[in-house]
This record gives sequence, structure tokens and C-alpha cells, in this order.
Amino acid sequence: MNDEPVLLRTALAGFDQLWSPRIVTRVNDYDVRIAKVSGEHIWHVHENTDEFFMVLNGELSIALRDGDGDGDAGTGRGERVVTLQRGAVFVVPRGVEHRPSSVGGASILMFEPTGTPTVGDRHDPVPDHVNATIGHLLG
Ligand code: NI
Repeated sequence: MNDEPVLLRTALAGFDQLWSPRIVTRVNDYDVRIAKVSGEHIWHVHENTDEFFMVLNGELSIALRDGDGDGDAGTGRGERVVTLQRGAVFVVPRGVEHRPSSVGGASILMFEPTGTPTVGDRHDPVPDHVNATIGHLLG
């Protein structure tokens, strides 16, 4: 990894691809990743790791199937949506199906174990606009 400071706005200016995270640095066994997003990602789940999100610019929504919010808790499939403004942080717990989206576009930072696939361990079919990856190195 780079041993020089990384300016996030410079890193973000260096790529345009949506839903395709770049690894800006690593901390122990974790990646710090940034991504540009717009429109919908896919429903997926990370069975063995939580996933940290922070919104750098714009607004990110994350739909969650965690059994809260619609009286459907008994099934564990009730859906709700959390909306994250710029500066907000949120953790999707391991095992919870989720689908990030952004109507107006957003830049986000994620913190998760190196090697974690963006589409999780189980997922809906991956459309062309979503990159199934464990993150790309910057530059
Ligand atoms: Ni995820």
C-alpha cells in the first residue's frame, strides 16, 4: 500500500466507474474503500462480516431485510430503508440482506475485511452496471 497520505477528493477524481470500489489503504486485515454510486446496487448478504459505510458526498440509501419496520418481524424478511446524508456512518450487520442505492449519486467510504466481495456471499443476478469485485487498487 501507498505510504504517502491519500487525499480522498483526489482519489475520487481519479476514476468514474460506478459501483466499483477503490482500495485507498489497509488497516490490519481491513480495506478502506471508496466508491462512486448512482442508481441501485443489488440485494446481497455478507454472511461473516459487518460492513461499514460513510457518506462522503451526496445521499445513500440502504434497504435492509432485518425484520424491522413493517410488522413482518416474525419472518425476518421485513424491509426498511435507512437514508444516510453526507457525513453519516452506518454499519450493516453480518447476515443482513441489503441493497444500497442513490437517486442523485453519492461518494461513499467502506471499511471491511480485505477480500470481501462487493456482491456478498449470496446475491441477486449481477447487472452490467454493478462490478462484482473485491476492490481495485487506486491508480
Ligand atoms: Ni454489502
